[in-house]
Amino acid sequence: MKKLRIAVIPGDGIGKEVIPEGIQALEAAGRKHSVEFEWTYFDWSCETYHQTGRMMPEDGIEQLRQFDAIYLGAVGFPGVPDHISLWGLLLPIRRAFDQYVNLRPVRLFDGVPCPLAGKQPGDIDFYVVRENVEGEYSSVGGIQYEGTEHEVVCQQSLFTRRGTDRILKYAFDLAQSREAKHLSSATKSNGIYHSMPYWDNRVLKMAKHYPEVKVDHYHIDILTANFVRVPEHFDVVVGSNLFGDILSDLGPACTGTIAIAPSANINPEKTYPSMFEPVHGSAPDIAGQNIANPLGTIWAGAMMMQHLGFPAVHDSLMQAMETVLKEKQHLTRDMGGVASTQELGAALVRHIA
Ligand code: NAD
Ligand code: IPM
Ligand code: MN
Repeated sequence: MKKLRIAVIPGDGIGKEVIPEGIQALEAAGRKHSVEFEWTYFDWSCETYHQTGRMMPEDGIEQLRQFDAIYLGAVGFPGVPDHISLWGLLLPIRRAFDQYVNLRPVRLFDGVPCPLAGKQPGDIDFYVVRENVEGEYSSVGGIQYEGTEHEVVCQQSLFTRRGTDRILKYAFDLAQSREAKHLSSATKSNGIYHSMPYWDNRVLKMAKHYPEVKVDHYHIDILTANFVRVPEHFDVVVGSNLFGDILSDLGPACTGTIAIAPSANINPEKTYPSMFEPVHGSAPDIAGQNIANPLGTIWAGAMMMQHLGFPAVHDSLMQAMETVLKEKQHLTRDMGGVASTQELGAALVRHIA
């Protein structure tokens, strides 16, 4: 029996409520397919910050290095400024382990009310491929003349050729593997003078290696409009760190709830552990109420199993998710139901069994 060593960071807010459901679902699906887990918990969070002045210990990254994967809930909570909590835990993990692909599927499921008129399950089924370690999320910049009327702050975007090409290659490979073979690139080369024309040129260069893939380019403003207007048009959408972040909340919102959406922070070379988490955050507004939707976390767990080479475990989780949604008996509030976090989690586990 294969035993997988997983580092678990529940984190803050509803992270602590959805992770147990994810683990239960993975345990159930693992049992069916002879996969065993060894879960090692790390209580790193904003609470840790209040106690120690750090989100994780100084050797936190070293502690995570030996695991097969990292399973994370959410990071950030009122009381600690967001840039301190996120740059103290989530973002350093993505960078230290070169998780340069952020793969975020968007799918409309049967059973989840869709806010867009006339869209059926099957109409919305695409991937956002987000660059995850550079771009607009660079630490280059700073403030000068602080406290004076000449105060000026500068935040640099950073696009390396290596960083740009490798995310584009991942996205083109994904598009090539899909039936529609259609890639849409998010850009803003009409307004952003240096980085975005560069991005467009790298897309055109990469496209030459993929003659079968149909490529289109959208400025980010009209792209967001088209996500709402014609989501069925999209298959694989590739974007920079910030554009990908925005698109991967908007996409799931078009399918009824952001809470269902998973986020795989992947190091494709498998040199380092990859990290799997829901797209959503710690939801302070509903934390502690046992109403958080655990499906984003469970779907992220399924992606973890796919990444680690256990497609049967992935499939059994996805089938259970499809069934529990279609039944509509155990939906959480964000999907129009009244079920608690645990009721939905338990119903899903019953379907796996
Ligand atoms: P959020 O995703 O936490 O919440 C946005 C809205 O969606 C809220 O109304 C919330 O109640 C709802 N929601 C989110 N997840 C849900 C779930 N599973 N079930 C039901 N409803 C859900 O975004 P925010 O409010 O912008 O951020 C809150 C905190 O989380 C901030 O500190 C932010 O920086 C952090 N954050 C962390 C991550 C992460 O760890 N990857 C992602 C996004 C935001
Ligand atoms: C996400 C989150 C993070 C991001 C924040 C919390 C730093 O929004 O995972 O989508 O922007 O990457
Ligand atoms: Mn986000």
